[in-house]
Amino acid sequence: MKIVIASDHGGCTLRQSLVQFLKERNIEVEDLGTDSEASVDYPDFAVQVAERVSQGQAEAGVLVCGTGIGMSIVANKFKGVRAAVITDPFTGQMAKEHNNANVVCLGEHSSKPEPALETLKSWLDAQFEGEERHQRRLDKISALETKNFK
Ligand code: RB5
Repeated sequence: MKIVIASDHGGCTLRQSLVQFLKERNIEVEDLGTDSEASVDYPDFAVQVAERVSQGQAEAGVLVCGTGIGMSIVANKFKGVRAAVITDPFTGQMAKEHNNANVVCLGEHSSKPEPALETLKSWLDAQFEGEERHQRRLDKISALETKNFK
């Protein structure tokens, strides 16, 4: 499994811990930074991760900013991307079991390092339940991608 990961300046420290955690689990990681202490714009990093997941170059993505919120807003613009802000092990688990989230977004300012690792772990270890009702809902979301909303 390959995971692509990125953060803005606000998520840099947490991202580095998550990269280490993923590598310790023998997961292939493509780390796209930022390693700059200077302020950067989170959309520029979310786009790089979401593009790769949308195009099938990575199976999943992890995005970190101050809250995870900005990153998720950007990532969900991309076809086939189901990005979820996860804040604790329960939302991590649900994001996979019910929503089959293929991108998760975490906040360095809204979570402490160790709980954030547990949150990511719960998403990684969970399985999409695949029940008809969950798949039907995901199909409805996919159908929205072909519509032209004004
Ligand atoms: C950057 O200042 C901050 O806005 C960003 O990291 C993130 O929290 C946005 O959602």
